[in-house]
Amino acid sequence: MNELANKTMIVTGAAGGIGEAITIKCLEQGATVIACDLNNKQLKKLEKLKYRFYDNPLFVFPVDVSDHKDVKQFFSIISMKFSKIDGLVNNAGIYLGRDLLDYTPELMDKVINVNIKGSTYFSQLFGELLLHRKDKGSIVNISSVSGQEGSTDAVYGLTKAAIIGLTKSCALNFSPNIRVNAVTPGLVETNMLEDIPEWRINEYREKELLNERLQPEDVANTVAFLLSDAARNFTGSVFDINNGCYM
Ligand code: NAI
Repeated sequence: MNELANKTMIVTGAAGGIGEAITIKCLEQGATVIACDLNNKQLKKLEKLKYRFYDNPLFVFPVDVSDHKDVKQFFSIISMKFSKIDGLVNNAGIYLGRDLLDYTPELMDKVINVNIKGSTYFSQLFGELLLHRKDKGSIVNISSVSGQEGSTDAVYGLTKAAIIGLTKSCALNFSPNIRVNAVTPGLVETNMLEDIPEWRINEYREKELLNERLQPEDVANTVAFLLSDAARNFTGSVFDINNGCYM
């Protein structure tokens, strides 16, 4: 399958569980990938993995999505290096697993800065670049079922609800050139689950209608579809990937 051949995709949080799966899926489908993450060590591991398995290019960049200067510098580098960029996946995110009463203002800022501002900075600069070039493109935002039904970590829940708002607003702002969609995964088997209390995981599992465990690749499949031209009619849409735990 070469659905993304000749396309160039930016993936944020590419060194994490879901980000790595999206990066690999894009490479498998023929895309060039610009992978960024805060974790440079993990990015280097991803780079090595790529050289063993895939022919098309992967570029890795250490970027803090919550740092506007860093993000601007990243876009000024890649806009010189790549004459065409087709897609952006806003995947970088953090989950602290705290009740609202345990949050300090500093921790609230941290989660809001990474989860909301990071995706907003990337969307703005990606939109500006493509609209200036009169190019077409696709943005996929990684929200969460927590943004739909709430989370025991209220700050995480509010940031993921905000991502749905960002998605619909950017779809309005950037039409007709750039399609903007979101996915709302349920529990996906990554390191992030380590911070969710066991009783909460069990509660989710009981609500799931399917006897499947969501893997990062399951999210990557839907994201790759939304990045591809096969999704040309979708914008402002939210795609639930949750085994039916929330409808
Ligand atoms: P993960 O913790 O494995 O990956 C997150 C990645 O984001 C890490 O590589 C981390 O270094 C990177 N990151 C964190 N802060 C950053 C920053 N300031 N700048 C750049 N990169 C940064 O987590 P996972 O599970 O792969 O999560 C990916 C996305 O999926 C997140 O947005 C998360 O909220 C969302 N999600 C995850 C679910 C799950 O059950 N694992 C469910 C629903 C949504």
